[in-house]
Amino acid sequence: MVKIALIGAAGQIGTPLSLLCKTSDLFDEISLYDLVHVPGIATDLMHIDTRAKVNGYLAEDSGLKKALTAADVVVVTAGIARKPGMTRDDLFKTNASIIRDIFTEVAATCPSATYCVVTNPVNSTLPIAAETLKKAGVFEPTRLFGVTTLDVVRASTFAAHALGNGASPRDFKVPVIGGHSGATILPLYSQAEPPVNLSEEALAGVINRVQFGGDEIVKSKQGAGSATTCMAYAGFRFVKAILEAKNGQSVIEEAYVYLPGISGGKEIATKLGVDFFAVKIELGKAGALKALPIGKISDNEARLLGVAIDDLKKNIATGLAFMST
Ligand code: LMR
Repeated sequence: MVKIALIGAAGQIGTPLSLLCKTSDLFDEISLYDLVHVPGIATDLMHIDTRAKVNGYLAEDSGLKKALTAADVVVVTAGIARKPGMTRDDLFKTNASIIRDIFTEVAATCPSATYCVVTNPVNSTLPIAAETLKKAGVFEPTRLFGVTTLDVVRASTFAAHALGNGASPRDFKVPVIGGHSGATILPLYSQAEPPVNLSEEALAGVINRVQFGGDEIVKSKQGAGSATTCMAYAGFRFVKAILEAKNGQSVIEEAYVYLPGISGGKEIATKLGVDFFAVKIELGKAGALKALPIGKISDNEARLLGVAIDDLKKNIATGLAFMST
């Protein structure tokens, strides 16, 4: 029996993500939680011919607890999204307490599950989730992930677009490290496989597009929100990786994690001076097996890494300060 709980399932990321989960046939049970609409969404999904049983829970009658009970994987997309002119940090005021409250219930109800946080600003909401679990005495860093997969997806997609030689974006593997916001997102094209051969100027443009890809969508949606379908796609890719790893496959995906709690992560954290950071993670049955070293990077990437770390330190401090008040 595999159960996934999607918290924020009536939102514009949660709903397409619930569709991908239902059509995947990876789950026996999918529970949807939100403040509105989820009973109807669950009924709608139940007309799809895959085995998963879908239930929708609203806040009343301990709905969050019911949604989380016996969940193996919890994906949190709840919270507000950006409008033009807003940064991800502008979401903090609203989304910080949403994450704290959800993880308070998570800690009480499904302390052994694997958690994926999509709610922005991920650079700050993941420290909040970690602190909440820690306060409840159930923090296991190997099972708490900030989802940065969309940055990885963008890094290969935008490289293929820029090369314009007909290669499929999926043919490229580009590690993306750092965080999930602007300059904290650092695609490592020096490690791309196959190599991305672009002029220095074109490459700088692609790096900038990956870092600010979210803004491109916010602008294009003209006030109707931020990334939804591509985020659902990326979130599902990460969830699938977790399940494949649980089933014994060797899987590597980037994720934003609490490095000191993961094998190999302490060394990276000490070197960089930040505890929360996205790197390649080797996933296994019990979650993160190992944080993989960053490896050799170009001089330009080393410069950008410095900028990323400066921003990230502030984002992490914001999350931790919220939890200490
Ligand atoms: C994204 O990367 O597109 C998402 O984090 C949404 C946003 O606010 O940019």
